Amino acid sequence: MKRLVLAVMAVGMMVAGAVQSAEALNNPGGIGGLESLRGGIELETTRAADPMKRYPRDQGTIDSDYVYQPPLIPHTIRNYEVSLNANKCLACHSWKNANEMGATKISVTHYQSPRKGQVLSDVSPSRYFCLQCHVPQADAKPLVENNFQRVDALR
Ligand code: HEC
Ligand code: HEC
Repeated sequence: MKRLVLAVMAVGMMVAGAVQSAEALNNPGGIGGLESLRGGIELETTRAADPMKRYPRDQGTIDSDYVYQPPLIPHTIRNYEVSLNANKCLACHSWKNANEMGATKISVTHYQSPRKGQVLSDVSPSRYFCLQCHVPQADAKPLVENNFQRVDALR
């Protein structure tokens, strides 16, 4: 009797499985036809990574869209380490090295303590991780619709 029940259950499961896979064919990904930023792909499916953005060298710095915007980085930053042990950006942009490297000096705000505005003798810890604020510029399409407009003063 027990065996019979098991056999019936097994057949039942197979039938259910077949129905399910037929469903999966009609509805690939089983995501109800919804498409997210990852595309129409189920979470557990690893999709190919997006191609790397190109950072053209000759485009100059893209203008700011608002006042006090951290300027975009007009060069590639591949393999530039910024960690506890090293800060590659400062090798060119610190006040000590900027002239020699022909790079823009970080401005004095990068030496100010964020709380009281005192000017410190070295880069403020709050400005150490450059990429928190500065990003390399690329002609990247917005991921979602965006109708942000440049502030009037900079138009
Ligand atoms: C090898 C030297 C070098 C290194 C390392 C470097 N930069 Fe630069 N950077 C430059 C030079 C030179 C410029 C001037 C524009 C140009 O020629 O590309 C520049 C321009 C910039 C600008 C634009 C400044 C402005 O006035 O608009 C930003 C922002 C910037 N870099 C941020 C960074 C950050 C953040 C890092 C680290 C991830 C970094 N840079 C690493 C050399 C360097
Ligand atoms: C908390 C955000 C923040 C961090 C972190 C930060 N910056 Fe900036 N940076 C800014 C803003 C905002 C400006 C534009 C206004 C100003 O000069 O303060 C700027 C300006 C600059 C400029 C242009 C200066 C000029 O005179 O035109 C350079 C170069 C620069 N940053 C490099 C760096 C580097 C290198 C680091 C890391 C050591 C860094 N920044 C960290 C926000 C930041």
